[in-house]
Amino acid sequence: MILIQGFNYLFGSFFNKQKVVISNSLNYLNRKRDINRNYLDHVRLATLELVAEEINKKGLQGAVAELGVYKGKFARYINQYFPERDFYLFDTFEGFDKKDIAAELNNNFSSGAQDFTNTSVEKVLAIMPHAKQCIVKKGFFPETAKGLKEEFVFVSIDADLYDPIYNGLNYFYPLLKKGGYIFVHDFNNDGYKGAKQAVKQFCKENNVSFTPIPDACGSAIIAK
Ligand SMILES: C[S@@+](CC[C@H](N)C(=O)[O-])C[C@H]1O[C@@H](n2cnc3c(N)ncnc32)[C@H](O)[C@@H]1O
Repeated sequence: MILIQGFNYLFGSFFNKQKVVISNSLNYLNRKRDINRNYLDHVRLATLELVAEEINKKGLQGAVAELGVYKGKFARYINQYFPERDFYLFDTFEGFDKKDIAAELNNNFSSGAQDFTNTSVEKVLAIMPHAKQCIVKKGFFPETAKGLKEEFVFVSIDADLYDPIYNGLNYFYPLLKKGGYIFVHDFNNDGYKGAKQAVKQFCKENNVSFTPIPDACGSAIIAK
């Protein structure tokens, strides 16, 4: 008995991992394709693809956006799955803003110390499969959204910190078409506690519901 318990203790987590089933292709969409090993978060990427399929199938009209682009790792797939749509890219492209960091520290949400300065608009556009669809909004959000008249069908909010996430939800949700989706990254990331707070606060104030998903860092999805 003790021997078996010892074996389970040592090797249990290894064998349990083998029970995780990851669909290696979206066969249910009649597409045979291996998991994309260049992008390590299969759940997030596959969910984006399924959501894009729903939006495009419904024939919804509208743009797509990402707030928090950094080097464009996720953005390139948004651009790929929505090849014909205007794609707004919101980022300082110079890392977090001091104002947002101060709010993080005041509320004990995060240290705001992660460095996202080593990027540029040129580098991001260079990896976009349909760069001509991209409209870059460089600078501090929400100021960069002023005067923009647009409706959206899909928005990714990946700005890490409470203020830009909360402001992003307040800005994008009213402009989201019925049938559209917002992904908020880091909902279940203890390193950025403000992300969950921002989603919960916005959803409570606006009587909106969300679905947490088990991708890396735990995104929350808001569907309209
Ligand atoms: C985690 S990174 C984004 C990662 C990216 N989505 C990816 O796929 O790799 C967070 C980004 O949010 C941006 N950001 C945070 N607050 C912002 C604000 N108020 N205005 C503009 N950009 C902001 C930062 O500059 C940083 O590039």
